[in-house]
Amino acid sequence: MARAEDNLQHAMGMGNEDLSRAILHSLREGIIVVDKNLIIREFNPAAERLTGHRARDRIGQKAEVISRDSSPIFRVLETGEPIYNVDTPLKDGRIWNVNFVPLVMEGEVVGAIQTFTDVTEERRMERQLLAARDELDDAFALTLPNTKVEVKLKSTPEFQDVFDPATHTIRITGIIEDGGYRHVINALKVLADLHRKAQGHLLGIEKDHLVRAIIFHDLGKVQPQLKVGDVVDPREAFEPSKLHAYRSADIAEAFYGEHPHVVQLVRYHHHQEHELPPDFPPALLPMLRLLKLCDGLSAALTRRGSTVIVDVDATRVYWYEDTPHPRYQGAWTLNLFTGAITFEGKEIPARLKGGRVIGGR
Ligand SMILES: [Fe+2]
Ligand SMILES: [Fe+2]
Repeated sequence: MARAEDNLQHAMGMGNEDLSRAILHSLREGIIVVDKNLIIREFNPAAERLTGHRARDRIGQKAEVISRDSSPIFRVLETGEPIYNVDTPLKDGRIWNVNFVPLVMEGEVVGAIQTFTDVTEERRMERQLLAARDELDDAFALTLPNTKVEVKLKSTPEFQDVFDPATHTIRITGIIEDGGYRHVINALKVLADLHRKAQGHLLGIEKDHLVRAIIFHDLGKVQPQLKVGDVVDPREAFEPSKLHAYRSADIAEAFYGEHPHVVQLVRYHHHQEHELPPDFPPALLPMLRLLKLCDGLSAALTRRGSTVIVDVDATRVYWYEDTPHPRYQGAWTLNLFTGAITFEGKEIPARLKGGRVIGGR
């Protein structure tokens, strides 16, 4: 026996058997141990609660298959390989999440341990959440001017990639076929949340123009044809972003007769502020900054699998991005009047705690 266990048993004043039993009894997960003939050898109190059977009636009996479909236990006994995290619908309608771990002695599979929890409620809530998100997406899609725009957005892919700083290349790790559409919907979600938080009082912001700018901003985008696994230099594979911005602005102006402010916002959504033409109206700067922010946060939602929480006061936007990418993880502030963006730290700040979490797909 390992020394750590020796010490633990000594400290607790318990024998090996007693300690194992105490652990089995303390677990929330149901545990059923079967031998290779599927005779039940152990059945803990959580298993009693979840199955509705008593241990003393079950131990020594053959295990019954209560899952709707055939159980992976047979494969585990045959191969000696564990199988984890199997969502298992039961005949009675519940869903259990089950792990199957083989018991191996001297190289031979002598049985298996099954641990399980009831995840029926979690899965029901996840389904509801997804359905609610679909409804929300449909609601935002209603703002699209016509099916031509919808079709174009839905057929423009967005790519997920990892950047290699040594070679300055990216490797394509995923393709979102309707990425252009998802990107617009997610940007509208971010704007809607900011608008709700600001209660319409964001200074210098005309919400309807921003909505139109979001819808049109990437409409002229042309994406290369790439496959998962491709390694490319992004400067060669993708056309410079400013080009699609110009194209999108021309489309918004010529075919949809958009307001000049909307056209300007779209045209310059990839410009740095020092690159803006001298006649760019300074009054439009807060809107341009907000458009870029919605654009950026939507990229996080659409391509990086992030979640974000946003808040505003009269002139500042606060957001927290939770992401697997360390470069973006954390809390940030944008001053809409000066354009200054400040990193506030890796942790979620008090003002954003408990805020509505926006998720993408
Ligand atoms: Fe763009
Ligand atoms: Fe964009």
